Parts: sequence; structure tokens; C-alpha cells
Amino acid sequence: MSIERTLSIVKPDAVAKNVIGEIYSRFEKGGLSIVAAKMMHLTQEQAEGFYAEHKERPFFADLVAFMTSGPVVVQVLEGEGAIKKNRDLMGATNPKEAEAGTIRADFASSIDANAVHGSDSAESAEREIAYFFNDNEICPRG
Ligand code: PPS
Repeated sequence: MSIERTLSIVKPDAVAKNVIGEIYSRFEKGGLSIVAAKMMHLTQEQAEGFYAEHKERPFFADLVAFMTSGPVVVQVLEGEGAIKKNRDLMGATNPKEAEAGTIRADFASSIDANAVHGSDSAESAEREIAYFFNDNEICPRG
């Protein structure tokens, strides 16, 4: 397994619950390093652009409304097999189906207010990281 980077977002519900630190701790204890981070309140345009691949899906407007409803924390995670490792730490999209001990099982309340986003492939990770960060904002370890 090689060292990868993935894009992660702590969503508005988790920021409002004051569990940013607990979620960061899951990443770090799970073997991932935070190599870039910023807090921001997404505009409509930023959220629509980020989720453009879902624009035909019935929940698109709800997803954009939720993601612009409050501040988020966006980070780049780095580590061995980071993309899958982060998805494993997150748990299933629907928290009702998320395995015990995952971030979504512990902190998410519904399929839309589901605490975290994580890139689902190497291609998505590359696009999503570049969507939020310039190269000079990423501080690799080692
Ligand atoms: S995934 O993880 O990309 O395979 O999940 P997917 O089912 O394709 O969902 C993509 C994102 O849409 C969100 N979602 C919803 N938002 C609002 N309402 C409903 N019903 C809904 N269903 C899915 C889901 O949380 C995913 O967000 P991200 O940020 O990608 O995790």
C-alpha cells in the first residue's frame, strides 16, 4: 500500500456539535496525518461545484443547502492507503448502516447530516484536494 492523500470535510452538523477535535483524534489514531486544514463557510457556488457530479440526483438541493448551513472544516489527510482508511474510519453514508465505532455511527444523525465527507477514489481525491487547496498550503510529513 502506498502513501496517499485524501480530502476530508467535517460537515456543519459535526462542527455545531463541537466534535471537531474528537473527529481529528479518530484520524490521527487511525494512522492518518492532517497535512492541510481550513475552516470555511461554503458559498452556494462552492458547494454546487464541489458536488457537481451529484447535480442530477434528487437530493442535490438538500445536500447543497445543508453544506452551506454553517461552517465546515476541510482537511487533507495523508497516510498509507489514506483514501480507504478514511472511508473505513467514517463508516457507511447512512449512519443507521454504519459499523459501531465509526465516526458516522458515533456522531452523525441522518444520511444528509452525516458528520464527514471523504473522497471515494484516487481521482476524486486529486480533484477535491485541488478544489480547496493550493500545493503550497499542504505540508507533507517526513
Ligand atoms: S457516497 O458516499 O458518495 O457513495 O454516497 P452517495 O450515496 O453517493 O451520496 C453522495 C453524497 O450525497 C449525500 N446524500 C444525501 N444528502 C441529502 N439527502 C439525501 N437523501 C442524501 N443521500 C446522500 C451523502 O451524504 C453524500 O455526501 P458526501 O459529502 O459525499 O459524503
